[in-house]
Amino acid sequence: MKLFIDSGNIKDIETLVAIGIIDGVTTNPTLLAKEPGDYRDNLRKICQIVKGPTSGEVVATDFEGMMREGRELAKIDEHIIVKVPFTKAGVKACKTLSSEGKRVNVTLVFSPTQALIAAKVGAYFVSPFVGRLDDIATDGMQLIEQIVEIYDNYDYTTQVLVASVRHPIHVVQAARMGADIVTCPPSVYESMFKHPLTDIGLEKFLKDWEKAQAPAGKA
Ligand code: E4P
Repeated sequence: MKLFIDSGNIKDIETLVAIGIIDGVTTNPTLLAKEPGDYRDNLRKICQIVKGPTSGEVVATDFEGMMREGRELAKIDEHIIVKVPFTKAGVKACKTLSSEGKRVNVTLVFSPTQALIAAKVGAYFVSPFVGRLDDIATDGMQLIEQIVEIYDNYDYTTQVLVASVRHPIHVVQAARMGADIVTCPPSVYESMFKHPLTDIGLEKFLKDWEKAQAPAGKA
């Protein structure tokens, strides 16, 4: 399963990419609006750091505007994936941009039928938002299970990108269900690295080693 970072913060992205576990980045208008500087320059920098799929989202809501912004975003870097919201205009833009050879991520997906439609118009990624469904007392991960099953039934090549991830359990469930990608905010990576037994175990190994190195009688 591929691991993406859900952030527009250059420092956070640099830090996580340096560890060697990151395959790509997702951004959205909310994330990019938090960062200083021109969003195009920031997206270019992110692409250069991660050297993998980097989603940049259109903000136009009409088909023509989405096409214009999508084509501009795609020019920023070869790694850019054009992100469009799941609306009629977004679905039409996905079909047209995909036919031009651009890779499209259909975002704000909350139902299996939306995911089915995204696959039919050639989306490269589909982004179901699990955390936001959990927030309204609906099981977000059940949606992932349904999408993976539907895509498997018909051999759709659209990759399932699990978004709106809030904690490591989402990651575990996504991996067990066979989702292609999870995109996590830096805080979720922090939680995935932390385990008290790892810390306790390492401390004991180092203490025992230190004791053995001390001159006889001084331990
Ligand atoms: C990813 O593509 C989405 O933009 C993101 O995961 C949304 O997450 P949120 O629901 O935590 O804002």
